[in-house]
Amino acid sequence: MAGVPKVHLRGGLEITRILNGMWQVSGAHGPIDPHRAVNEMVSYVDAGLKTFDMADHYGPAEDFYGAFLRKLKAERGAEALGRVQGLTKWVPRPGHMARKVVEENIDRSIRRMGVDRLDCLQFHWWDYSDKRYLEALGHMADLQAEGKIGELALTNFDTVRLEEIMNKGIPISSNQVQYSLIDRRPGQKMAEFCTAHGIKLLTYGTLGGGLLTEKYLGAKEPTSRCDLPTASLGKYKNMVDAVGGWNLHQELLKVLKTIADEHGVSVANVATKYILDQPAVGGVIVGCRLGVPGAEHIQDNLRTFTLDLTQNDIDRIHAVVSRGRDLMAVIGDCGDEYR
Ligand SMILES: NC(=O)c1ccc[n+]([C@@H]2O[C@H](COP(=O)([O-])OP(=O)(O)OC[C@H]3O[C@@H](n4cnc5c(N)ncnc54)[C@H](OP(=O)(O)O)[C@@H]3O)[C@@H](O)[C@H]2O)c1
Repeated sequence: MAGVPKVHLRGGLEITRILNGMWQVSGAHGPIDPHRAVNEMVSYVDAGLKTFDMADHYGPAEDFYGAFLRKLKAERGAEALGRVQGLTKWVPRPGHMARKVVEENIDRSIRRMGVDRLDCLQFHWWDYSDKRYLEALGHMADLQAEGKIGELALTNFDTVRLEEIMNKGIPISSNQVQYSLIDRRPGQKMAEFCTAHGIKLLTYGTLGGGLLTEKYLGAKEPTSRCDLPTASLGKYKNMVDAVGGWNLHQELLKVLKTIADEHGVSVANVATKYILDQPAVGGVIVGCRLGVPGAEHIQDNLRTFTLDLTQNDIDRIHAVVSRGRDLMAVIGDCGDEYR
């Protein structure tokens, strides 16, 4: 199989087009064994999936990354460190955003991850009526110029604020947003703006926490916390309900399965490739329950890159998803579900 495709962000950081998502080690998706998790991070890298996505609030994710780098250095030498990328997020409560506050939080992630500088810092903000996000981003841009941050990026910002930030001369590399065959909002406004300004979309929820896989084809509607054992499944089941409900979701899974079988791939591969092919999308972040038996999908996810969707495939997918509600009207633009 050919190598994993990569993409460059604005500042030159090269990342893999499927990224390994680490929200799944936070504790909200079941127990994680730290030793097994860190060992499995090496397996992802050996398979060519070299970019990890984490956040300051994903439980031990940043500490795992630090332990993983130490292991890599001990076993493979210092040069191996330059071949992996760690993207993190800063998700502060709105408050005082003086330079000292911003820098302290960045330094904490640097320490936990065991790096000299952050490859990429993605900033989240909860409340647009509090404009101190502009102050915080100004300090982050200064810290980027001083070398503490490689790529300055956002998560869950809408198109209006992204434009406002770019107009302040703050060079944003990427915006991490929910984007899937369930939630196609980024295709409405965000993608066009990003394409015009050289900003990449990094997407999450692309597999609906697992709802966009064979596992849920023909399955009874999951409703209780028992049926939806991870935070991720609960989050995206709400989106399924918002867009059209379980029957429509089953129709989508049937079409995806037909297409997957025709190409000799999985439903997850079709769901991922569809999003990778959308304008402005740089990469799809696939959540990894690291070290959990049965939850490692490396070889299957690599097959995504062997798949070329035809126009007929896309037309059949659109025939189903176009029957869903317009989530832009129901929820708002990217990230509005958090506000
Ligand atoms: N910025 C934000 O606000 C935000 C929000 C959510 C997520 N994220 C990021 O995005 C990442 C993605 O997480 P997500 O919650 O959106 O979940 P997701 O990627 O949509 O789904 C992940 C789940 O899909 C299943 N899966 C993966 N590959 C599969 C395959 N080939 N075949 C069958 N099943 C497969 C696994 O389920 P099993 O483990 O059950 O096998 C896995 O836990 C997170 O880790 C995080 O980095 C960011």
